[in-house]
Amino acid sequence: MKRLCLLWPIAGLVLGVAGCSQPKMENQPKYETYENAPDWPDGQSARTPPAGTVARDAQLAPRPDHLPVPLTQALLDRGQQRFEINCLPCHGRVGYADGMVVQRGFPKPPSFHSERLRHAPLSHFYDVMTDGYGVMYSYADRVEPADRWAIAAYIRALQQSQHTPVAALDPAQRQALNQSGNGEDR
Ligand code: HEC
Repeated sequence: MKRLCLLWPIAGLVLGVAGCSQPKMENQPKYETYENAPDWPDGQSARTPPAGTVARDAQLAPRPDHLPVPLTQALLDRGQQRFEINCLPCHGRVGYADGMVVQRGFPKPPSFHSERLRHAPLSHFYDVMTDGYGVMYSYADRVEPADRWAIAAYIRALQQSQHTPVAALDPAQRQALNQSGNGEDR
């Protein structure tokens, strides 16, 4: 019994050593970054990517200046939904930069109703969402390109909503506005 007890640690040691002697992938022969590589005719380990290779985050098509899809009610509805999920917390429901995150101390963005942003091309809003802007981080990994256009279109609709005089509405639109309870807003 005593001998058996002694055998166990020895067997464990043998198995352990055998396990360690297996070559690990990280120890296999390989080139380190930018190391000289005599195996290649040009001696470089950093190989040129094959023709036609594109970076994972490459912008494949040039970004158009204007809305690249038809402006429909469905697009605006989608834009509103995505805006209210992603942008409202800071930019506020109507775009006056009075969202809850700002009320809690986050830097205040400019109002979407400023002269400058009212006249900014639609692509500016797309670009801000794609690349971020100042302290605002990028939304590229949260908002799909198609949704960025939908949000941009919705922001334009918000801008229109605050700068179209009520007198310019036809009677049916005026009645709808009054019934919505928004007629007296700002
Ligand atoms: C966490 C808060 C926050 C969220 C959420 C947010 N933004 Fe911003 N945004 C900011 C701040 C702050 C600025 C001002 C950045 C600066 O000037 O440094 C800004 C600036 C902007 C501007 C103005 C850029 C300019 O030309 O001055 C646009 C347009 C904009 N955001 C669009 C959006 C859209 C669209 C979304 C939703 C997809 C969004 N933001 C979500 C905080 C936010």
